[in-house]
Amino acid sequence: MGALSIRNVRRSFGNVDILKGIDIEVEAGDFLILVGPSGCGKSTLLNIIAGLDKPTEGTVHMGGRDVTHALPKDRDIAMVFQSYALYPNMNVAQNISFGLEMRNVPKAEREAAIARLEDAADRAPARPQAGPALRRPAAARGDGPGAGARPGAVPVRRAAVQPRRQAARGDARRDQAPAQQGAGDDGVRDARQVEAMTLGDHIAVMKGGVIEQLGSPDDIYSRPATRFVAEFIGSPAMNIVTGQRAANGFASHGIDLVLNDAQRAEIGNGHAEGILYGLRPEAMLLGDTGLPGSISLIEPTGPETYVLVDTPIGKMMARVPGKVHQQVGETVHLRWSASDAHLFDAKTERRVA
Ligand SMILES: Nc1ncnc2c1ncn2[C@@H]1O[C@H](COP(=O)(O)OP(=O)(O)OP(=O)(O)O)[C@@H](O)[C@H]1O
Ligand SMILES: [Mg+2]
Repeated sequence: MGALSIRNVRRSFGNVDILKGIDIEVEAGDFLILVGPSGCGKSTLLNIIAGLDKPTEGTVHMGGRDVTHALPKDRDIAMVFQSYALYPNMNVAQNISFGLEMRNVPKAEREAAIARLEDAADRAPARPQAGPALRRPAAARGDGPGAGARPGAVPVRRAAVQPRRQAARGDARRDQAPAQQGAGDDGVRDARQVEAMTLGDHIAVMKGGVIEQLGSPDDIYSRPATRFVAEFIGSPAMNIVTGQRAANGFASHGIDLVLNDAQRAEIGNGHAEGILYGLRPEAMLLGDTGLPGSISLIEPTGPETYVLVDTPIGKMMARVPGKVHQQVGETVHLRWSASDAHLFDAKTERRVA
């Protein structure tokens, strides 16, 4: 029995269906992240898990117990809100200790939670640079806006924390993943794509009230189940070109694109409406041979460069290591390996190979 089982959960407001049949199993110790565009139903689902809302249909079980209609206080959950709601007159240690005390957490456990903070314990919560420094006490505290320190609780983190600086992402991962693992907690959280890839054991990608794909970060990135997942995860987004079956395998705008044997076998069957051929920008290299095109944009980021190339099959974004020496307007060639191509049925937009 999973720590959290969500079965056929539907939620309608009036005659508008927001959640259209959600099934999720989270095992004890797993950390699931929900991602999806604004309005896809992440908060609606989290509210149902937390007990702040009830499904129109379907059930929520926690540790084998049906909690579909249980009040939030009668579920073993804790929530971390996006605004941290810390007491400004207390330092970090006091914020955490107070919350745990209110929940009758034994003194030894409270002290252990505080010991994990090391030198952050004495700091005032309001002063340190906003993001991670505040998130840590909020996550460690066990009352309303808190989670990690309550053994056995299912932490439900209400909203995405979006670190402003690149460096802060690493902090978010260091702060939250250990709190999660250390306490042996399972959890559900709603997050942005990069965070989802670094934080979650499992990612559920939602769109329009359904789960498009539920899998490990590697599944989601390496074998996206649908065109939507392929384009939603990864930055810059996957390039997708339309084409059809051809004598040599696959052609787009009269140009043959490489396929491996497995891909060739898969597109032999049907797909009358055509095939979508997807390539991640990082799968492409600039070379002396390959698909020719003219550079229309160069965007250096430091460690890598984004190069937009205007080719006969459409504009293709390449993400290449280091600097590029070519200029806008120059002709270059794009190369990639067939095994890096993602094929989707053009009609259903589901993965073919
Ligand atoms: N109480 C409500 N009454 C009517 N419609 C609602 C209610 N709550 C949510 N909705 C609608 O349900 C849809 C899903 O909203 P939800 O807040 O779950 O999205 P979300 O995925 O969390 O989006 P975001 O990323 O913007 O937080 C939206 O279209 C929203 O307008
Ligand atoms: Mg939301």
